[in-house]
Amino acid sequence: MKNIDSHTHVTGTSVYLDDLPILQGTLFAAAYGSPVAHGILRRLEITEALQIPGVVRILTAKDIPGENQIGGIIPDEPLFADHHIHFAGMPLALVVAQNRDAARTAVKKIQAIIDPLEVITNPRIAQAKGELIMPAKSVIQGDTNAAWPQCTHIFEGAIDINGQEHLYIETQGAYAIPQEHGSLKVYSSTQGPTAVQRTIMRVLGIPMHRLEVVVTRLGGGFGGKEDQANTWAALCALAAHLLKKPVKYALHRMEDMAMTGKRHPYMADFKIGLDAALKILAYEVTFFQNAGASADLSPAVLQRTLFHCTNAYFIPNVSATAYSCRTNLPPNTAFRGFGGPQGMYVIEAAIAAAAAGLQVDKSLIQSANLIRTGEAFPYGQIAESEASACWDKAVALYDLENIRAAINAFNAEHLLLKKGLALMPICFGISFTNTLMNNARSLVHIYSDGSVGISTGAVEMGQGVNTKILQVAAQTLGISYDRVKINATSTYTVANTSPSAASATADLNGKATWIACNALLERLLAVTDLNVSRERLSIQNEIVLLDGVATDWNWLRLVNTAFVQRVSLSENGHYATPTIHYDSETGKGHPFAYHVYGTAIIEVTVDCLRGTYETDSVKVVHDFGVSMNPDIDRGQIEGGIVQGIGWMTLEEVIYNEQGKLLSNALSTYKVPDIYAVPKEILIDHLHTDNDNLAIFRSKAVGEPPLMYGIGAWFALRDAILAFRPDAVIPFVAPMTPEKVLMALYSKQSVPAYEEKVSHLGIDS
Ligand code: MTE
Ligand code: HPA
Ligand code: MOS
Repeated sequence: MKNIDSHTHVTGTSVYLDDLPILQGTLFAAAYGSPVAHGILRRLEITEALQIPGVVRILTAKDIPGENQIGGIIPDEPLFADHHIHFAGMPLALVVAQNRDAARTAVKKIQAIIDPLEVITNPRIAQAKGELIMPAKSVIQGDTNAAWPQCTHIFEGAIDINGQEHLYIETQGAYAIPQEHGSLKVYSSTQGPTAVQRTIMRVLGIPMHRLEVVVTRLGGGFGGKEDQANTWAALCALAAHLLKKPVKYALHRMEDMAMTGKRHPYMADFKIGLDAALKILAYEVTFFQNAGASADLSPAVLQRTLFHCTNAYFIPNVSATAYSCRTNLPPNTAFRGFGGPQGMYVIEAAIAAAAAGLQVDKSLIQSANLIRTGEAFPYGQIAESEASACWDKAVALYDLENIRAAINAFNAEHLLLKKGLALMPICFGISFTNTLMNNARSLVHIYSDGSVGISTGAVEMGQGVNTKILQVAAQTLGISYDRVKINATSTYTVANTSPSAASATADLNGKATWIACNALLERLLAVTDLNVSRERLSIQNEIVLLDGVATDWNWLRLVNTAFVQRVSLSENGHYATPTIHYDSETGKGHPFAYHVYGTAIIEVTVDCLRGTYETDSVKVVHDFGVSMNPDIDRGQIEGGIVQGIGWMTLEEVIYNEQGKLLSNALSTYKVPDIYAVPKEILIDHLHTDNDNLAIFRSKAVGEPPLMYGIGAWFALRDAILAFRPDAVIPFVAPMTPEKVLMALYSKQSVPAYEEKVSHLGIDS
């Protein structure tokens, strides 16, 4: 089935926040963000700004009727800085004006008098100074100390992984409209309508039932709107509430890039020990997460880093510790993979270090250690593993031997062009790591004309969740797709929702829809005069079947009869993922409904004169379970791969030492363009018939494929070593063309992490 949005997307008629018709009297807002990253706010000079024609009012912390607090997990984030400024871009004031230009012009006239304080941007420095968001977390399996003496080889290293700008095509924004009885209707470009509702409740001191948060669709979220849409919605709601006028704020791209958080940069130290047969016996890792100025989702992201720190491998002795480090950057936040990719990069780097030290191919260590069914992840969950199935199929299907031979031949023939290869296995747990978030509801109405309207907590952000929910309803009710419509997401129809995130949206909301549709079907089939047991009845193509044979009951007759008999044609389904649990005290449990596996073979070509490169191909065997929509899933995999490659290669978030974002526009922040996209992406379905907890056994696909992109970093490393076998290649991502060139030619490679560590006086 086609994505139901493809027609409106292609014809430009899909409705995003900025496409909503503007009500008469609407005011426009713009935030004034702090020009410095750390300091004490002495005074705000706003007189000149107020004189700009069209400016209606300038709001600051003093104007907040409720709490000046938007921190979700930890209450450590004021909406407006009122005294202590924690990051450059932190909102100090909101200009509200009759038009957008006036608001933006006025912002430029505001001046803040700030006493600057020392700025920290490096998480290792923050950790050394005790600047932690929360106490360190760890996950432990076996006993690494007892295992080291058994290891024949031990390798250590340090890692520096950069962040990533979400670059959703639609920037952050909201439109708040006052309603009667002191209520507000807020359109928000958010993945989490309930999070927006809660934040506004807190800031305005208005009960949640007066706040309707509506989302039509997003032009991308990628995690950036899981928590960080709250700020802009709360600002608009505050202004609308105080001024009794509709207020809209859709951020300019440069405002969005400067004021919002990104994927967390991480630093890490690892120690890996192997036996003579290349089995990994022990792995110790310490993560320094660059959380930015406040917690935001960092604690949950850190948890997932720990969960995924052994990727698709079984390691009997693991000791992983993670620090969430407070720095003076905008609070970093969810981003596709949610901390998993960083954990997985580090173990891949550790394996690469071991392979280099032992002079063996990295893939030998990888394949020797893939997790098998029955083995435990470090957090206690027992694997039902497809890791080797995916790996072995990829090796055979794509003929790895032949790929290797072709690369060797190419490299022997070319002096200045070198090809590199990497295999990248993935393993990603599906469920919110916070067990209580794994629930959803679906409100299904059958109208008397036989059409069906569905409201869930799911937010469509391009990932195709609405199409999947529509499929669930149509297939469960046995009716045509045309009869079903998925409504905009609203906190008035479905309450207390988890954000659309963790790749679990279709599973959670799809299962709630399935439950509601089944209940409705039971009720409908009970109104016939067929007088047979329920098991003998089914419905297909809108015809009721008795023992598989058509009766003269059809969908419309069922609906009409039920309506006349005063049977309810509405149902609210509730789903809460069974079997999952996790004890954060012991660090053990069964946090995930299931895992998604896969293996990618990535080939790149490096121009060893220029340091530039291309991705030749990404060949994947992916564990779909049984895909309920292969076209949508393929789109998710292709997009995830390109986004992952971008993170690992071209995209470089750069803050200066004062905490100011230098890569603040598309002229200075390079994302993959059509030339950077792999020339070939092959995706093979691993067919499995195992039962799983995915909707219709169609495993979640939103985030896992991003991590195939990590292979691009290691393929580039491989190509560099083909040109210069003694190259020193620090484990620093992204591998930009500049870094490639330095690795190819620098006389004395000084790993960037050593520079950063050494001036701390820490022995690297
Ligand atoms: N695909 C598109 N087109 N746009 C997005 O914003 N977000 C990703 C992924 N794929 C995203 C996307 C992220 S971060 C997640 S968690 C999942 O989609 C969320 O949707 P799902 O739970 O329905 O997979
Ligand atoms: N994934 C994505 N988003 C989340 C999670 C998670 O595990 N937990 C809380 N928000
Ligand atoms: Mo996705 S990072 O869970 O929104």
